[in-house]
Amino acid sequence: MKTNRFFGRDVVSINDFSRDELEFLFEKTNKMKELKPKEKDELGKARIMGYLFYEPSTRTRMSFEAAMASIGGSSIGISDLRSSSIEKGESLQDTVRVMDLYSDIIILRHQLDGSSKFAAEISDHPIINGGSGSEEHPTQAMLDLYTIIKEKKRIDGLKICILGDLKYGRTIYSLLYGLSNYDVEVILISPPTLKIRQESIYGLKNKMKIVELEEINETVFQNSDILYVTRIQKERFSDPQEYEKVKGVYTIDSTILKQFKPDISIMHPLPRIDEISQDVDNKSNAIYFKQASYGKDLRSALLALILNESPI
Ligand code: CP
Repeated sequence: MKTNRFFGRDVVSINDFSRDELEFLFEKTNKMKELKPKEKDELGKARIMGYLFYEPSTRTRMSFEAAMASIGGSSIGISDLRSSSIEKGESLQDTVRVMDLYSDIIILRHQLDGSSKFAAEISDHPIINGGSGSEEHPTQAMLDLYTIIKEKKRIDGLKICILGDLKYGRTIYSLLYGLSNYDVEVILISPPTLKIRQESIYGLKNKMKIVELEEINETVFQNSDILYVTRIQKERFSDPQEYEKVKGVYTIDSTILKQFKPDISIMHPLPRIDEISQDVDNKSNAIYFKQASYGKDLRSALLALILNESPI
C-alpha cells in the first residue's frame, strides 16, 4: 500500500503535488464511493473543519462543508465578514490564529495572492487554499483534472482549449500547473487585455505546447477535446470601464456548439454569467454541473487523506 503523503499537509499550490500524488488522490476519490456510511463516518469523526471566506463562494464552501459532513465531521466558520470581528479590524493573522485554536483543518479564501501561504506559516493545523487572489485555486484544479479523467478516461494526448479571462482567473493558473504534469496541448483564447500573465506561466512553456489566440476559432474548436470556459472576473478590475469593454465578449451557445468536435466536453468552474448560454446546459457536451458535483467527492477524499494517516 502506498504511503499517504497528504497526511497533515497544507494545500497552498497545486505545484506542490506530483502527478503520482494527484493520481493517488483521484484513486482515493473513487474509493470513497465504495465505503459504507459507517466507514466514512470514522474518517472525520470528532474533527472540526474551520472555514474563512473573505470573498463570496457557493461551490467551494458548500462542497467542503458537505464533504466534511459526509466523513462524519463538522464545520465552523466565517463567510459573512460583517458578522465577525474582521469587521472590527481584526487582522488575517489573528483570525487564522484563533481559527487554528478551534479547528483541525482550515479552508481559506482571501483576495490577496500569497494569503494561504501566509496562513500556513501561522497555523499549526493544515491550511487548504480555497482561492487566493488571482493566484491559485488548487482544489478546483484537482477536481477539474479528476473530471477530465472521469469524462475522457485519460489526460495525456488531449487538446484543451481555455477561453475567457485568463489574466485574473485563478482557476486557470492552478489548472495549467496541474496539466503540466501531463502530455497535453493547450490553446488559450482571451481578449488582448485579459491574456495570461506571462510571468506566471514562464516555466510551463517547456513542459507543454501552449498556443495563444485572441479570437474564437472554428478550427480550434473542431480539434479540441475539452473547452474550459471562464467568467470575466469583474471584481478584479480596478477600472469599471475596462470591464465594460470586455463584458460578454464570448458566448458559447448551441449554434456555436455545432462547429465543435462532436464529443467535446465543455467545462466551467462556475459561476457562469453569460459566457455559456443556458441552451447548452442540456447538451451531452455540457459537463459543468457534473464537474461541480465531483467537487464534493474529491474534497471529501482530500479531507480524509489530510486528517488520517492511513484512511481509505
Ligand atoms: N468554482 C468556484 O470556486 O466557485 P465558488 O466561487 O462558488 O466557490
